[in-house]
Amino acid sequence: MALFHWNDSYSVGIDAMDRQHQCLIELISRLYDAMRQGQGDAEVGKTVRGLARYAQRHFAAEEALMRQIGFPQLTSHQAEHKALTDKVGRMTADLDAGKKVAAVHLATFLKDWLVQHIQQEDRRYGAFICNGEPVHK
Ligand SMILES: [Fe+2]
Ligand SMILES: [Fe+2]
Repeated sequence: MALFHWNDSYSVGIDAMDRQHQCLIELISRLYDAMRQGQGDAEVGKTVRGLARYAQRHFAAEEALMRQIGFPQLTSHQAEHKALTDKVGRMTADLDAGKKVAAVHLATFLKDWLVQHIQQEDRRYGAFICNGEPVHK
């Protein structure tokens, strides 16, 4: 069973970004399944690395879009991306070093981070494109 599914509350109103978020959700769900089914560390490591690569591409695409539209909160948004990238990098290094990463905890952490980030941060650039105004908390 998948950890979570796409729903409309995740939409930022930009199809290309919604599509990339759907892929991220699918990759996190796949990681969760791999862990729950007790697949080996090699498989889990491969899935985490695939997810990290896709997340990096997505963050780069989002940052390019925000730059292009003159989004005023680019710097703080980038900092959130970097914090997650660094954290996933540390997790990947742990896996490479043969350390056990707390299995299901990792997938649920990524899920919670992504949902919170999409709903609180990514939606701001979606709203900015539509209204030309930053959305305040
Ligand atoms: Fe995003
Ligand atoms: Fe983002």
